[in-house]
Amino acid sequence: MNNSRSYCNKNLADIHTPLLHNYWYVAGLSTEFTVEMRERTILEKSMVMYRKADGTPVILQNRCAHRSFPLDKSILDDEGIRCRYHGIKYNHEGEIIDVPCQTKCPKVSIKKYPAHEIGPFIWVWMGDKDKADIKDIPELPIYDMEKWTHVVSEYNHMEGNYILVHENLCDLSHLPFLHAETFKTPPAYSDTPIEMEVDGDEVKFYRSMHDWSALSAFFHPAIDFSGKEFTYISGGHYMSPATNKGYAKLTADGENKDPICHYVSHYMTPETQGSCHYYWFVARNYELDDHEYSQKFGKMVQTGFDEDRVAVKYMQDMLEQDKLDFKEMSVKADAPGLAMRKIIKRLADKEYC
Ligand code: FES
Ligand SMILES: [Fe+2]
Repeated sequence: MNNSRSYCNKNLADIHTPLLHNYWYVAGLSTEFTVEMRERTILEKSMVMYRKADGTPVILQNRCAHRSFPLDKSILDDEGIRCRYHGIKYNHEGEIIDVPCQTKCPKVSIKKYPAHEIGPFIWVWMGDKDKADIKDIPELPIYDMEKWTHVVSEYNHMEGNYILVHENLCDLSHLPFLHAETFKTPPAYSDTPIEMEVDGDEVKFYRSMHDWSALSAFFHPAIDFSGKEFTYISGGHYMSPATNKGYAKLTADGENKDPICHYVSHYMTPETQGSCHYYWFVARNYELDDHEYSQKFGKMVQTGFDEDRVAVKYMQDMLEQDKLDFKEMSVKADAPGLAMRKIIKRLADKEYC
């Protein structure tokens, strides 16, 4: 019996699908980059991350070219990093600039990864350097700061493959169950069909409804739509292997105004095949000065996220440990997640086959 059949599917990415490199991933929060070095493993590669004295973020291979000593355990100064083992020194480009006891430096560099700071995040390009283009960094709501207020998560660690996290985020059907106590979505929410659109390598999905009771947990208490007809759309957008954007939009029917809107953007960065780094970012375009509400809303999102984190770990453990010869079945509401898994499988085939 072939136990690997339990999670292998020829058309769908799963926890064993090799990780994708030619994408921008969030390397860390802007606040995590300081003049102190920090180690983070991204796509199974150990990185050392820091800021130069002028504030520029730097991400280098964390492994000394000489005997693999970790550079984050070494000494950083204005010129670069001196390895603590035998004292070889690297500049901020990763080039060797000093070797104790010899006058000539070998023409050897450690790898430097393109890094770019936008709003609350520092992004890293993990693929072929000539393909790195900052125009490919997925859009954040923060680009339009005037119109939005926001809350950014702390760093979160996820003990599960990033595809399990994406599938969770593409899955509107789990909200009334896994998050029953946190989001308190009413039965009308789960009864509304999910619409989906695949657009190239992206997937958009949503539920559209007119039930006021579905809104309570998601919108500011000052909003009163009583007596009005309105449309409430709860949806998401799988944008890239690094990004999945959720939203809740409320529009009064017949009014020619921008919708009242919450975005919950999610950023997953694979650490290993079985774990990932995770950050979220909440933004809304109304009641901009109610900071207490912002904090309360951020807390609710984090509580929901913690519920997802536990579920993802349960599933990762089951997929890794249970040897039952088994194939998962899918239902209608899984369509966005399945579309995302097809896309990632196709991208992995393109990169590896
Ligand atoms: S291991 Fe870094 S200098 Fe030898
Ligand atoms: Fe969730």
